[in-house]
Amino acid sequence: MRKGTTTFIIFGATGNLSLTKLMPAFYHLESEGRLDVGVNIIAIGRRDYDDAQWEEVVQEAVRQKSRKDISIELFKKFSTRLSYFKMDVDSAESYDELHSYVKENALGCDIAFYLSMSPAHYAPVVKNLGGAKLLDETSGWKRVVLEKPFGYDEASAKGLQHHLSKYLDEHQIYRIDHYLGKGMVQNILVFRFANILMEPLWNRNYIDHIQITHAEDRPIGSRAGYYDGSGAMRDMIQSHLLQLLALIAMEPPSSMKAEALRDEKVKLLNCIRPIRKDQVNAHAYRAQYAGGVIDDKHVNSYLQEEGVDPDSVTETYAALKLYIDNWRWDQVPFYIQTGKNMAKTQTLISICFKHPPQQFFKESQVKKMDSNWIIFRVQPEESIKIEMTAKIPGLEMETQQLSLDASLLPCGEGSDAYEDLLLDVIEGDRSLFLRYDEVQAAWDIVDPVIQTWASERSYIDTYASGSWGPEDANKLFDKAQQEWRFHADIDSPVCKT
Ligand code: BG6
Repeated sequence: MRKGTTTFIIFGATGNLSLTKLMPAFYHLESEGRLDVGVNIIAIGRRDYDDAQWEEVVQEAVRQKSRKDISIELFKKFSTRLSYFKMDVDSAESYDELHSYVKENALGCDIAFYLSMSPAHYAPVVKNLGGAKLLDETSGWKRVVLEKPFGYDEASAKGLQHHLSKYLDEHQIYRIDHYLGKGMVQNILVFRFANILMEPLWNRNYIDHIQITHAEDRPIGSRAGYYDGSGAMRDMIQSHLLQLLALIAMEPPSSMKAEALRDEKVKLLNCIRPIRKDQVNAHAYRAQYAGGVIDDKHVNSYLQEEGVDPDSVTETYAALKLYIDNWRWDQVPFYIQTGKNMAKTQTLISICFKHPPQQFFKESQVKKMDSNWIIFRVQPEESIKIEMTAKIPGLEMETQQLSLDASLLPCGEGSDAYEDLLLDVIEGDRSLFLRYDEVQAAWDIVDPVIQTWASERSYIDTYASGSWGPEDANKLFDKAQQEWRFHADIDSPVCKT
């Protein structure tokens, strides 16, 4: 029997997310000394493990995913927090048993239920938790952590929210968007609001356009069941990438407290100009990966992936052009794109500034000035780069682009997004979790596109796996000089392979 203060109860604990992200994140928090002695982690699963077998499974998962070599001694300490409770999540009675288990083991009054499972289970599991009085906050807090997707579109998100709110107050719901836990994403807030230098430039007078690119050099893997019914627009743009856009473009919040921050994000998302259905083709582009070569190996097309409908028109690449109808961003286009099986895995937010008046250099040899750019590289390595034009030393008036480079990793080891987010759940800090109105606003933005694509099923463009996506996505750009930026470094010219 253990005494505890905070208990995580992980539904779907034997699944992929739990083993590749949550357990390694808990272990890293242990190694950093960030878990209180009283934190316990109960895994819920259908499989027939006892505690010892479960510890072995977790040890192997941590060994595979840990940033450092696993320390047996540390893992022993960590494993005292772990236990396994076998239950059928569809049976209401088993929640009473869970309640007794929690009581008997004195596992603490503060409980976070982490639903690391298919969203189809969210409503019934929460109903059953409520039915077994496990969400009752008379002694200690009770929080429910939900992974994305929250709904399938605006209507289904509303239905889910309506259901959850019968059993939970909004302050008990932690909707995870793991991008908000990424170091660079939080750095965007610091860069924007802790430096006075940027604010005067951060608007339509100086910024030509903004791009957000998230590319992955991986296929959908074993996730066809989920992905083929979802697609890139729902999977990445509605959630993670619109959150990045909100943080880049929102007004300064009155404080960094959760509600102030989330109010500003919602305000911004609500200012995004709705895309009418007859404008979808001018604002959005979709495509699917064909076969190709990645890391010198031939890879399958999307339609050849196991579990994918051979007639599927689900997009593995999506691009979107948005305008924000407010004072700061009037007429500045925001271009967002994401794709699977592309040339490289990376996430960039690229801010392109307008050209300065060129008359000043008219008589010199400087024919065309390059734009200034600010590039936030979210991953793989975090960095912020500012590109400026400078004169090449010598007699001639020749210029070059220089990059002021703040690569951030050498300053610290970095941490996985889930480590921050799990600590926030314990501390009750909801600033990096989504409020329902944010989710709703994000669905409102993408719904017309998703609906139009669902009705146009006769054709979808393709791109070669290992490439930078479909050529025709360029048609979204407003000006001939605008093009996708795929590299954070000046030395790598903006190029497509
Ligand atoms: C998930 C998506 O939410 O985010 C995946 O469902 C995607 O399809 C993943 O690969 C990307 O996250 P990260 O942290 O690897 O960039």
